[in-house]
Amino acid sequence: MHDPLDLARRLVAAAARITAFTGAGISAESGIPTYRGAGGLWREYDPAKFADIDYFREDPSYYWRFFRDVRYRIVAEARPNAGHLALAELERRGKLEAIVTQNIDGLHQAAGSRRVYELHGNTRAIDCLDCGATYDFAAVHEQVRTELPPRCRACGGRLKPRVVFFGESLPERALKAATAVTASCDLLLVVGSTLQVHPAASLPPLAKQVGARVVIVNVGPTAMDDLADAFLEGPAGTILPQLLEAAG
Ligand code: APR
Ligand code: ZN
Repeated sequence: MHDPLDLARRLVAAAARITAFTGAGISAESGIPTYRGAGGLWREYDPAKFADIDYFREDPSYYWRFFRDVRYRIVAEARPNAGHLALAELERRGKLEAIVTQNIDGLHQAAGSRRVYELHGNTRAIDCLDCGATYDFAAVHEQVRTELPPRCRACGGRLKPRVVFFGESLPERALKAATAVTASCDLLLVVGSTLQVHPAASLPPLAKQVGARVVIVNVGPTAMDDLADAFLEGPAGTILPQLLEAAG
């Protein structure tokens, strides 16, 4: 019997161009709950409303109230965990080429990762839909204490977080880059994603197609465990540092 951790360590040690794909699971140990996750933290707010573009256009206050009362504090207080830090270290050592992520929390960058492609945008940047001015989320958080929905300081226009809502298309550049770095990697390291949502679901098959190995790190099963060369069941904050030990 092969120990999957042993096998994964050897694959990481042998790889020269790793691409990591991360989902909500990598930020769980930083205290960021998933939209659908257990815990009931967000039960007062319905993702079908706050994260839906049509609903947002109709009633932006719903999102901004959620941002003011729930989301801002969670993201502002979150710190990168050992999983984020391990991926940043892999990049510093020249083993990891890029991170493709579905997360919008900015924790990879906070951990020191430089090449990060965000498929769903980033909640820390807020754009004016009318004049293109951008604001940091801390400034807008101050603003929403007294102004709901917040308006652009420059033109009075509508503000929207730079996040992909349901009903919006994914940013084309990040999507292209995600495909390119997956097609050119020799190891795809998937962390904390059920791999059910596209384009996430298309990356592991693409990696296999170009002859790359696939390692999955996840607390529960994913849609693609069978396709993985090694499937490591467990928390990213524990397992990723263990993988790093092998990657000289
Ligand atoms: N370490 C590793 N994996 C974990 C951890 C952990 N500490 N905690 C939870 N997980 C696993 C869960 O078991 C689950 O399989 O991470 C996975 C997270 O899966 P999803 O919540 O489906 O996250 P993701 O693949 O990113 O898809 C969610 O869908 O609603 C959209 O835009 C939203 O980006 C979001 C995406
Ligand atoms: Zn404006």
